[in-house]
Amino acid sequence: MSEARLINRALKAVLNKYTGEDPHRPAWHLSPQTGLMNDPNGFIQFQGEWHLFYQWNPVACAHGAKYWGHWRSTNLLDWRHEPLALVPSEEYESHGCYSGSAIDHDGRLTLLYTGNVKFEHGRTAWQCLATVDKNGEVTKQGPVISLPPGYTGHVRDPKIWRHKDHWYLVLGAQNLAEQGKVLLYRGNSLQEWTLLGEIAGAHLNGLDDFGYMWECPDLFALGDREVLIVCPQGLAAQERKWLNTYQSGYFIGKLDYESATFPHGEFQELDHGFEFYAPQTTLADDGRRIMFGWMGLPDANEFFQPTIAQGWIHTMTCPRELTLEQGKVMQRPARELQQLREQHKHYQNRADALPTLCVESAELNIRSLGNWEVCFGETLTLACDEQGIRLTRRNLRSGEPEQRYWLGKVSQLQILCDRSSIEIFINDGEGVMSARYFPQAKPVAVWQGEASLSLDYWQLRLCMVV
Ligand code: FRU
Repeated sequence: MSEARLINRALKAVLNKYTGEDPHRPAWHLSPQTGLMNDPNGFIQFQGEWHLFYQWNPVACAHGAKYWGHWRSTNLLDWRHEPLALVPSEEYESHGCYSGSAIDHDGRLTLLYTGNVKFEHGRTAWQCLATVDKNGEVTKQGPVISLPPGYTGHVRDPKIWRHKDHWYLVLGAQNLAEQGKVLLYRGNSLQEWTLLGEIAGAHLNGLDDFGYMWECPDLFALGDREVLIVCPQGLAAQERKWLNTYQSGYFIGKLDYESATFPHGEFQELDHGFEFYAPQTTLADDGRRIMFGWMGLPDANEFFQPTIAQGWIHTMTCPRELTLEQGKVMQRPARELQQLREQHKHYQNRADALPTLCVESAELNIRSLGNWEVCFGETLTLACDEQGIRLTRRNLRSGEPEQRYWLGKVSQLQILCDRSSIEIFINDGEGVMSARYFPQAKPVAVWQGEASLSLDYWQLRLCMVV
């Protein structure tokens, strides 16, 4: 379809945006104006400003031929809309401008993304370049990598970085035996790329079967190691772990750029909640590694979420700072988020003697030992005991209770609430549980249990995307 027609369709959807009451619309998380948003893309701090692009179907609450939307921010908190970045108008991207990443190339903001093409039987994928000018206008440069032999059409989601004198990128891939893999490429320029090989995947580095497709790889140095984040599809659920439709986790290892090998440790989940997928990191100017994730998951119960009645679906997570500590990737809310805090209150009491608190847009910082429970908006329950944390809600499709777990000794929790979402940071970043939930009324937290809690509470201010 022509570019003009695609842009017109998006514009029509945005002009007709729902303007009635919308209790689940986040106060400070990023969400789409209309339609469906999924992966964070092209996350970068460029010439001092933050840019976050995103997978977007502006015209329907459905997956399909994705566009790239674009937000820009000076403080990582207040974002504004930039022009539509990519629309799937060319033959090499006819079924979507799929996920990708951004770099600063000689002072020019440059994007690398997947052109997804479907045929009647089968599909192919192109890795494509585009440049962004200072007004946010994007110029496509076309494909620079075609489908490598030995793989199905599922090869996508380039994450690019510079190391010494070369560009490198990783791609998520499926080989012809339907095994998920990560491919490493080296570029002499952004146009000329060489496939160095598979650096991770099913049947590599000591793994057995490990999924039929790996999506959204991200490889970066953290401390004195490299971390490979990846989203394997097709792992069977285990007792109390890997319970979501697809997983999102990481391997810690050491990348040898010469031999293109990445010996690594075991797969660890990044988030133990109900909704988390396809995260992407960037290196901030001050050296921090910052990550956004999609607080959603494909192919589960997403189309039962009630915001569809208001014409939109899904949100991003908050930005998180990553560090490597004792063989674990720790996640903490980006320190900028502390600027959202207003009206502090402190409580020290038995859980069941704590007051009911408004958690429409709030942060709770809890120190505790013992058994206690808190219920958010009569919809989502967090139970804490000596085994760890159990999060319970009703499945939106079946109405049956469903659970997620974090196992370990809990001493501290930092909980970020935003109308229809919750992010629970455990033991100063040792674990995270993210979830969407849809209370009928304004959500309040109601406490139970005899454990003694020390609780700091703040309301969080609104961040309007203008
Ligand atoms: C992950 C993903 C990516 C793909 C994009 C399409 O959620 O499936 O692999 O590029 O979403 O929207």
